[in-house]
Amino acid sequence: MTTEDTTKNTNQDYELDTLTNERLIKDHEYDGIKELDNDLPPWWKWLFYITIVFGIVYMIRLWVLDSDDLYQIREYDAAMAEAKDNAASQPTAQFEIKVLTDDASLANGKETWDKICQVCHLYDGGGLVGPNMTDNYWIHGNTVEDMFNTVTNGVIEKGMIPYKDQLSPTQRLEVISFIIEKLHGTTPANPKAPQGEEMAWPY
Ligand code: HEC
Repeated sequence: MTTEDTTKNTNQDYELDTLTNERLIKDHEYDGIKELDNDLPPWWKWLFYITIVFGIVYMIRLWVLDSDDLYQIREYDAAMAEAKDNAASQPTAQFEIKVLTDDASLANGKETWDKICQVCHLYDGGGLVGPNMTDNYWIHGNTVEDMFNTVTNGVIEKGMIPYKDQLSPTQRLEVISFIIEKLHGTTPANPKAPQGEEMAWPY
């Protein structure tokens, strides 16, 4: 079947399909397949017009009005300035040294204990190089502040390492809370002999 069979040539720049009367693109045929010469759909054209309007408005705002919000660097600077203001106006949260009793903190404390402290104090706190954490005898005091101080500054000459650089204040508080809440008062497998003074448990 040739083109002449189904299309009728006109003088216009499209030709009409003789059967369906649809417009076809002229001289545009491959293996007998021809392409319809339809108008673009209105939604597409409108989208196109809108992009033109958007483009014009954008150019005016960028080059004529010099709008701040079109420059990322200015937006960034403004956001940084705002954040700085906010930070300055907020009181710095006070770090309070007190026993943490929530599960998450105690779990974090146990993690630190098992990773670092058990080497000298044993997993169950029974003591090895370092003293027993389960009994009521303490060398450097048994309040949470005393222990925070010991863990922060260490007792270098006796082999207790300072942890102020290795553990954040929160991490130190967590591991101390773990000692107080979970190790003290338990019965370890091989408890080390008491060291220091017997102290009434403050909690
Ligand atoms: C290298 C061994 C070693 C490691 C690791 C270690 N300690 Fe110690 N710790 C000691 C020694 C030794 C002492 C006793 C210091 C003394 O005799 O004055 C001690 C004492 C303490 C005390 C005071 C006990 C008391 O009777 O007053 C606390 C609390 C303590 N350690 C907690 C920790 C925590 C928490 C960790 C882990 C972050 C830790 N230690 C890691 C060796 C260690």
